[in-house]
Amino acid sequence: MAIGNNQTSLTSSGFGLELKDIDLAELDDNTKSILVEGFYASGGAILIRNQQHLTPKQLCDFVSLFGSVEKNEKYDPNFLEPDFPEVLRIGNLMEDGQRKALWIKSDEERLWHSDDTFRHPQPIGSCLFCVTAPPTGGETWFAGMGEAYDDLTFEIKQKIKPLTALHSYNHLNEFLRKTNPHRPPLSSEMRKNLPPITRPLVVEHPVTHKKALCVTNIHIEAISDLDETEARVLLNDLLDHATKPEFVFSHAWKPGDLIVWDNRCAMHAPSPFDENKYNRLMYRLTMNGEQVIPDGN
Ligand SMILES: [Fe+2]
Repeated sequence: MAIGNNQTSLTSSGFGLELKDIDLAELDDNTKSILVEGFYASGGAILIRNQQHLTPKQLCDFVSLFGSVEKNEKYDPNFLEPDFPEVLRIGNLMEDGQRKALWIKSDEERLWHSDDTFRHPQPIGSCLFCVTAPPTGGETWFAGMGEAYDDLTFEIKQKIKPLTALHSYNHLNEFLRKTNPHRPPLSSEMRKNLPPITRPLVVEHPVTHKKALCVTNIHIEAISDLDETEARVLLNDLLDHATKPEFVFSHAWKPGDLIVWDNRCAMHAPSPFDENKYNRLMYRLTMNGEQVIPDGN
């Protein structure tokens, strides 16, 4: 859907915007305001293509429009760009038998999540920049949690309003280890540094003040006042709703494509590709900033 000469909505609900005719190497004040306004108006995901000329420094400058850029201390330094620890390489890149990028094998199951809801403060968003893409597979899916929340019935909104969920990195790590046996269990130090935290199922965005669902079920160990079965049924129902086609777009990457998203109101999910046949390399930058307003009231 075209909503302006240089903007195209990526879903029928209005979630997601492609911004055209933008060069992120030239961040003048006008461009900055188009980017920031577009980011919030999009419901939390903007796509910009043809940026293959960007340097790591220019990527950092761009991402810093939305928050402070994280230094990726928790990742293997071999996965970070030299002199730019803000830039984490993700993919199947190898050199001399050593992994040079964080490799998370995806399977057909769509693992919807907002990044790191198990820590507080949570990173408020991330940017993925495509360096190398397979000709098929490796797409990333995005879903708008504000649009999905708005579309819930009054009864469901009332039901979930008081509920909180326990988000746990260990829960996620054990889940990922089933398909990624190379991934080690968390050390006791990591478990101590990242204990489970509580978040409501409905949050309020600190900038737009729109409410959004927070239903990252692969991070969620339990929901307040519900037994395990009830919690899983509710989470699955909410996730099914939130990932209906009108709230979702999938992006098939080309080198130079860039998407920046807002973890406070958008989820995303990876797709597999044939890693024995093709290479995929993405740069990811993550930003910190103002947190969601917890009770959503
Ligand atoms: Fe992610």
